[in-house]
Amino acid sequence: MDPVISDALVFFGATGDLAYKQIFPSLQRLAKRDKLNVPVIGVAKSGWNLEQFKDRARKSVEEHGGLDPVGFERLISRLCYVDGDYNDPETFKQVRKEIGTAQNPLHYLAIPPTLFSEVMEQLKAAGCADHARIVIEKPFGRDLASAQELNKLVNSFFREEDVFRIDHYLGKNAVQNLLYFRFANSFLEPIWNNQHIESVEITMAEQFGVQGRGSFYDGVGAIRDVVQNHLMQLLSNVAMEPPPGIDMELFRDERVKVLRGIQPIGPDDVIRGQFRGYLDEPGVAKDSQVETFVALRLYLNSWRWKGVPFFIRTGKSLATTSTQVIAKMRRPPAIFSSDPQPANYMRFQVSPDVKMAIGALEKTQGQGFYGHPVELLAANKKDTSEMLPYEELLEDAMAGNQRRFARQDYVEQSWRILDPVLSRDSPLRVYEPGSWGPTESNPMTDGYEPWFNKE
Ligand code: BG6
Repeated sequence: MDPVISDALVFFGATGDLAYKQIFPSLQRLAKRDKLNVPVIGVAKSGWNLEQFKDRARKSVEEHGGLDPVGFERLISRLCYVDGDYNDPETFKQVRKEIGTAQNPLHYLAIPPTLFSEVMEQLKAAGCADHARIVIEKPFGRDLASAQELNKLVNSFFREEDVFRIDHYLGKNAVQNLLYFRFANSFLEPIWNNQHIESVEITMAEQFGVQGRGSFYDGVGAIRDVVQNHLMQLLSNVAMEPPPGIDMELFRDERVKVLRGIQPIGPDDVIRGQFRGYLDEPGVAKDSQVETFVALRLYLNSWRWKGVPFFIRTGKSLATTSTQVIAKMRRPPAIFSSDPQPANYMRFQVSPDVKMAIGALEKTQGQGFYGHPVELLAANKKDTSEMLPYEELLEDAMAGNQRRFARQDYVEQSWRILDPVLSRDSPLRVYEPGSWGPTESNPMTDGYEPWFNKE
């Protein structure tokens, strides 16, 4: 039997930053494609009325992608708004009222994780959880124990097939392309292993700071904000074995296997940093020890990757904005020159532009065999995906399709890896905004190609 399509969409955190930047533009596009023929109920505590809420929706789409007259009109005609506290049963009575005759609502918790349990309990008490689906924003818990606790709680209200742990990286075309490119082509597989690849780098650099999200960010930090979810997804797409079929559950199995194989991270394999000026951000504690930068060195215990370091780093207020994966190859025997030259590499940039490039060496003009690095660019384009990540993922969730959502065993494995890093409290190094993070992260790659500090 095909899963039922959700017949109402309730989203909590409706006046928040995520809704403004991502959810309204995605809903407008869903509406434009006529995929949003249900009541859309925003819930928040802002003291607003419906008109103010609609106004917010308008500003959101104008600022993020543009207002589409057809899509926006449809969206606006379906919008409802409930203003109230998440711990007040009255709020949920209102939600129940707005859901009306819908039988299978989808609840989307675009709110801080500390509010999840309260909201789910209130949903249940108000009769809004029966036959409903739930989308939970990352981070899923704060560590392994809280993720397990959260899961127990979620499963006490919702069946596992109705739970959607959202990570918008799984909705990005360029992230899915990592899998497609690896498994749809034949030339990569023979070299995609420790015989040919010496190290792998995954960098998510952001030139901007916390952009007014200080109070959220200060309760989370870089590891919980993006490593546990986005960067682990990139890592598992790069490292996983080909699944024995196209069934997405098989893909999810392979991703979990990658994480299971990651060895415990030692104290020397972590550098944490905080950009100068972070403590002055609104909402940030004056003595905050939260990291805005982290670099990690990981090893995978697998036949394919044994001995290959995976260098992962992310940071706010860095030199540029770019997320990329770079697989660096072993060097050939040196025939032409003893000068050190960069190793060949395969580079997949997933954001903001989409690039696939091979780093190679070419002979420089003139006598003698000297060379310089060049890039063979296979793709270089703006991310003009037809669909926004949240658009695709919300459509999937409303259709009950879990293929691009994180499974609980995956979430638990990622915390198993990161828990020791979080509890160890390694020293926090201050770095200058606009740099590549603390200089202490440079020696991490000693003996291997250095960090790719370009773009
Ligand atoms: C979000 C994080 O999940 O991802 C942000 O909370 C981060 O801190 C953002 O900036 C990056 O997403 P993208 O799609 O712009 O790479």
